[in-house]
Amino acid sequence: MKIKIENVTSSAPTRRVDSHSHIKDLGLGADGCALPEASGFVGQLGAREGVGILQDLIKLKKFAGRAILLAGPPGTGKTALAIALSRQLGTNIPFSHLVGSEVYSSEVKKTEVIMEHFRRAIGLRIRESKEVYEGEVTALKPIESENPLEGYDRTIKAVECTLTTLKGSKSLRLDASIYEQMQKEKVRIGDVIYIETSSGAVKRVGRSEKYAQTYDLEAEVFVPIPKDAVHKKKDVVQDISLHDLDIANARPQGGQDILSMMGALGKQTKTEITDKLRAEIDKVVNKYIDSGVAELIPGVLFVDEVHMLDIECFSYLNRALESALAPIVIFATNRGRCQIRGTDIVSPHGLPVDLLDRMLIVRTVPYGREDIRKIIKIRAHIESIRIEEEAVDALAEIGESASLRYAVQLLAPSMELAKADLDEDTVDEAVVDKDNVLEAKELFLDVRTSAQFASDSSAGYLK
Ligand SMILES: Nc1ncnc2c1ncn2[C@@H]1O[C@H](COP(=O)(O)OP(=O)(O)O)[C@@H](O)[C@H]1O
Ligand SMILES: [Mg+2]
Repeated sequence: MKIKIENVTSSAPTRRVDSHSHIKDLGLGADGCALPEASGFVGQLGAREGVGILQDLIKLKKFAGRAILLAGPPGTGKTALAIALSRQLGTNIPFSHLVGSEVYSSEVKKTEVIMEHFRRAIGLRIRESKEVYEGEVTALKPIESENPLEGYDRTIKAVECTLTTLKGSKSLRLDASIYEQMQKEKVRIGDVIYIETSSGAVKRVGRSEKYAQTYDLEAEVFVPIPKDAVHKKKDVVQDISLHDLDIANARPQGGQDILSMMGALGKQTKTEITDKLRAEIDKVVNKYIDSGVAELIPGVLFVDEVHMLDIECFSYLNRALESALAPIVIFATNRGRCQIRGTDIVSPHGLPVDLLDRMLIVRTVPYGREDIRKIIKIRAHIESIRIEEEAVDALAEIGESASLRYAVQLLAPSMELAKADLDEDTVDEAVVDKDNVLEAKELFLDVRTSAQFASDSSAGYLK
């Protein structure tokens, strides 16, 4: 049999580009001042510095239970700021992202959605002393079982693994389920791993330092060969969120200590999480925090488009912020004065005053033409769009009079128009010019222009 090889494309992952993928972090200098252009961020200096200070407070755990409001017109980088903050905080601090309109679902209560996000944003760092086998893998041999049917599908019965430290080495014969985990963690000879004796969980710590000279293309973490005996007690740190615990324990099994609660992780089943269950979990968690086994890591909950929430949600938020286990909440809105949903009260940003009163407010301001120019160029680069300077100027002008987001969104259609002028062989050389941009602008309206048409009685809309 011949296999086809001509049309097989490489499976190298193509990176997806979303609207914020150019933002790496807040782009602050060592002194905490915002750099005019760094990490994909341009301008909006005041707001970036403000959020930078917030980040310091979060790291010092000094801000839990408090709220920030990012207020500014559409397309001024509010969502970008929050995303930058989450990227800057790293993966050890939980970050949960809720868009206001997400709470309206016919299946789940509004307050339930909010509560779930609250608990996703509260982390728990648990330190445990565990009995483990740890060392560099110096031999790894799966043992296949004799298959009575003489088939090809041999099954792995066990694995023989030799772990070596500076003190000595130990050969272990381990269960097949542990071998499966090793394969998942891609353990190979020369890796430093540990295996928990009670659960059989395998963790790959990194690659042994011995191999550090052979240049690996992938980013590898090189670790020293452990010094102690292979079989020992080790302090293990694990980060989980309260929501993880809720889910894992929605169907309670057995004891109420934190170890059995964590044992239930991984076995995820979809059952209802009741307030009673949450209260029980909080009780255990608090006990463990008091006794020093666990440390509370208040994370960040980002509620975008907060004006979409209604009065019921707001009063719930007020109460949730009071609780001892509360994260830092960042709200964002593009509304000035408007009605609070579910009432006929008009209030700044569409938020109740008592909630507003708790917030520090960070303002974002519309961008000038120069900043828009730079952002357009960054976006063009990340979307792999070649564009003439004149076209960038045109987009910057459009961005200034309409909005930044509109200008950014015109990039992709402009590129398609540029491609349409070329034939198949030269389509890869397409460069966006000014005419492409102006044509795209004619084809796709911005909000304001469209709204003008809508209110213009001659346009023929039904009222
Ligand atoms: N200062 C900035 N630097 C670089 N890109 C930005 C900046 N501000 C906004 N953007 C980008 O412009 C687009 C619109 O911004 P966004 O954060 O969604 O606005 P908002 O949430 O305020 O409506 C996004 O693609 C965003 O990543
Ligand atoms: Mg936004």
